[in-house]
Amino acid sequence: MNFVVRHIVPWIKVIVAQLLGLGCLFLAREFLTGNAIVSLLLVGVTASLAGRVLGLSVYWIPIQLLLPFALVYSNVIPAWLYLTGFVLCALVFWNSATGQVPLYLTNTKTWTAIQTLAKGAGAKSFIDLGSGSGGGVVFLARALPDLVVTGVETAPLVYLLSKLRVAVLAPANAAIRYRNIWQEDLGAYDLVYCFLSPVPMPEMYRKARKEMRPGTLFVSNSFSVPDHQPDRIIDVSDGRKTRLHVWKM
Ligand SMILES: C[S@@+](CC[C@H](N)C(=O)[O-])C[C@H]1O[C@@H](n2cnc3c(N)ncnc32)[C@H](O)[C@@H]1O
Repeated sequence: MNFVVRHIVPWIKVIVAQLLGLGCLFLAREFLTGNAIVSLLLVGVTASLAGRVLGLSVYWIPIQLLLPFALVYSNVIPAWLYLTGFVLCALVFWNSATGQVPLYLTNTKTWTAIQTLAKGAGAKSFIDLGSGSGGGVVFLARALPDLVVTGVETAPLVYLLSKLRVAVLAPANAAIRYRNIWQEDLGAYDLVYCFLSPVPMPEMYRKARKEMRPGTLFVSNSFSVPDHQPDRIIDVSDGRKTRLHVWKM
């Protein structure tokens, strides 16, 4: 069921959004001068807006914009462009195939809840395992100047961009490292946060239990661990009804 919600439902929404874009093109046909680029842009922009209304994240906007062009010009688009797109996707979604952990991001309301948790626990060190675009690292380092905030990431393009983002936007208590989450010693942190997928959670929980110090906190966004009830669940009042599973080691 979770698979359907995560992987099938978004594509159904994309199809509905594109159909709405086509509907908009049909309604506006008298005002268009037959310019194909403008028509395809109209479909893409309408589909992007409709997608947002239907609850798709901003990451779908480039796909929604490009889809009408890719379909109509599929026979004239050079092969190298598809190859470039494939390589870029691979550099971003590096860990999707091997570790079954895709890229999706924690929202600001959830980072605020984590900030409150870290402050309440008196945490001095924090790590985001698979820190994605580095948004959380920047947020927490700014909000809690006494907290040493680390992010580790191995998707090459995501790592490079997040490293740049942290260098430009974050204070000195923030750092991003190119490091596999399985090689990081979790014993160094007061609060360990992860937003991965159901697949690695049992193994990551075992690692946390083995390495983390007594009294420190292990927090998983959305994904629990079978047969290991969290000590606390924080319900974040955001659009996607995020639940933070908190274990005290
Ligand atoms: C769901 S995203 C979460 C991003 C960020 N933590 C957030 O909450 O906004 C998971 C991230 O973990 C990274 N990741 C997955 N497996 C990893 C591994 N073995 N080592 C380092 N990073 C990994 C992915 O590339 C992706 O950026």
